Amino acid sequence: MPQKPLPDHLLVEALELLHEHGTAARAAHFATHPDGRRGLSRAGFQARVNAAREARRIGQIEWAEPARETEPPPDYDRNKTDKPPAPQIVIRPTYRVAAMAADGRGKTRLIVIGDAHDSPSLPDKSRFRWMGRLVAERTVDAVLQIGDFASMDSLSRHDANDTLRGKLKPSFLEDIRSFKDALSAFDEGLNGYKVEKHCTLGNHEDRALSFENRTPEIAGLVESNAFTVLGDANWTFSPYGAWTFYGGVGATHSPLNIMGKAYSGLYSENQISRDSVHDVIFGHTHKRVERPYPKLNHQQLTVLNVGCSLPHGHVEPYAKHSLTGWTWGVYEVEIERGRIQKAHWIPMLELEERYG
Ligand SMILES: [Fe+2]
Repeated sequence: MPQKPLPDHLLVEALELLHEHGTAARAAHFATHPDGRRGLSRAGFQARVNAAREARRIGQIEWAEPARETEPPPDYDRNKTDKPPAPQIVIRPTYRVAAMAADGRGKTRLIVIGDAHDSPSLPDKSRFRWMGRLVAERTVDAVLQIGDFASMDSLSRHDANDTLRGKLKPSFLEDIRSFKDALSAFDEGLNGYKVEKHCTLGNHEDRALSFENRTPEIAGLVESNAFTVLGDANWTFSPYGAWTFYGGVGATHSPLNIMGKAYSGLYSENQISRDSVHDVIFGHTHKRVERPYPKLNHQQLTVLNVGCSLPHGHVEPYAKHSLTGWTWGVYEVEIERGRIQKAHWIPMLELEERYG
């Protein structure tokens, strides 16, 4: 069946996005799908750019590439020794944020994956395949990964490079290869099941931005490599600390208080419920908590911490021998009428038993 031709404004958008973001891989995340959603595959976006170029060649659309900001000013003479003013470097995170359901009506079913902390030090990616299989089996509407999907230890500044532990850190390339393997294993588990996949980036992914902030010479390079991996596997993502909404329920890696810091302490859920006006799904502490909080006038708010999705029993080295209370598994969540109506905990041990 012949494909419907794309409207001209989407063709122009493709050329503008390519100009703005430099590569098809990055620009594809921001392209508008014909049904209004954001985000295309890299190949799909490239095909659209090709069509747009052809449309421009035959005069169907008009679009002229604007001069780049880094070009020398027009009166710059290359033969003179004085240099043009250096372009200002601006570290500008580029993300796309999943759309909020308009009215909270209808039922949204999610699998929520907690902090998975993929790392080259955990070469067995089976748990990602099990989680993919669960998603396909439950035929949910969307998968939400709550951040700290990958540990990105190569970019950690907790252990200085000249310390013993610092010397044992993986390289950035090893981190990225490991993360790619984890995402591939997840897709293998999906076995062709098409589902919206979104990650609310965590403090560990935020290491890419912190690293670039400390190393301005490579601004954009680490971030684009780290997040292109997600985009290439058709994951959308939102910045650390930002909220993504599913049917009126807010999700973020860790809610941030008025100081911009993650709520902390034994009873951080109490503070979050006090300050929030909607149900909350979050991660970060690696300890699952599912708690309804009554409000005045017969209202109620649910705070759901989804624990972590590391292998069962695995505790990261920084936790040492502390009283962690970590929990390992995933949540199946049903959202209806703007609230979490059901949250079902599935331990990692159960996933292993069923799919291992
Ligand atoms: Fe974490």
